[in-house]
Amino acid sequence: MKKFIAILLVLTVAASMAFAGGGKQAASGPKNITIGFAQCKADESDWRMANTRSMLNSFNVPGYRLIMSDSNNDAAKQVADVQGFINMEVDYIVIAAVNMDGWDTVLRNAKNARIPVILVDRNINAAEDLWTCYVGPDFKVEGQKATAWMEKHFGSNPVNIVNIQGQLGSGAQVGRSAALDDGVAKHSNWTLLARQTGNWGTDTAKQIMTSWIQQFGDRINCVYAENDNMADGAIQALKEAGKKVGKADGVAIISFDANRPYLQMTLEGLINCNVECNPLHGPRVKGIIDNLEKGIQPKKIEYIEEEAFFWDTITQAIIDARQY
Ligand code: AHR
Repeated sequence: MKKFIAILLVLTVAASMAFAGGGKQAASGPKNITIGFAQCKADESDWRMANTRSMLNSFNVPGYRLIMSDSNNDAAKQVADVQGFINMEVDYIVIAAVNMDGWDTVLRNAKNARIPVILVDRNINAAEDLWTCYVGPDFKVEGQKATAWMEKHFGSNPVNIVNIQGQLGSGAQVGRSAALDDGVAKHSNWTLLARQTGNWGTDTAKQIMTSWIQQFGDRINCVYAENDNMADGAIQALKEAGKKVGKADGVAIISFDANRPYLQMTLEGLINCNVECNPLHGPRVKGIIDNLEKGIQPKKIEYIEEEAFFWDTITQAIIDARQY
């Protein structure tokens, strides 16, 4: 993790130093576009690290200056970070929102300052005229891919589920949890035994899962973990408790993100169903900004195509071909 931060700092400094003159490029050179990127927490998960790298790498080229803020997953700080970008008079603001709520005032300030706001990865609850576009997943559709697998795997047998949620109030958590709620409401043989946020982290998820194993014992036959890191924590807890995990007859493990190390666990049968949440948004956001510079308006909402991977069909070749 420390190495990741070090690389991150080098990349950010390099990107900034490339335009040490600050401000706009001299009139003679290409326009120097300054982008303020409000990231949730750069090193929060394998997924987020891949997302951060993608954004930094995409704008680490002449003509662009990307300034990234890190809110440490603090929603109030992230709003302040965005206000800071407005005060700096950046050309564009890009937000991967910690929380769906609390955006109206600062986005109205951005609108009044005539700074386009691009939402990436995480959707928000704010009036549509306050943001230019959203590019990212439909998180409820991701969850529906997982519950579709659960329907096939369990059939009419009892499904006793524990749900390790992402950070409460984030678009990813809201969408994925909502899909599970729909599944529980639809199937009388599905029971949600417990749910709690693991805040995207492995250790927290492991602690939560350990307490649920003590509370529910062998009743648990399905873990719905809202990202890979938390699925890993749950698997560690189950294995330490001597439980059979995954494959055809172990505790079924649902995960999201499909980071390569966790696709390896899917191939091993430890994770039964891993739903992709693609983090490589850098080129997508750069494409939107380049088009806006040419006066080409983006789609208001661009949902990205994502796959799902399953323990009994994934192959090493599929994993090796993945980009993250
Ligand atoms: O918004 C995407 C989610 O944020 C990922 O599923 C999770 O790993 C990350 O923290």
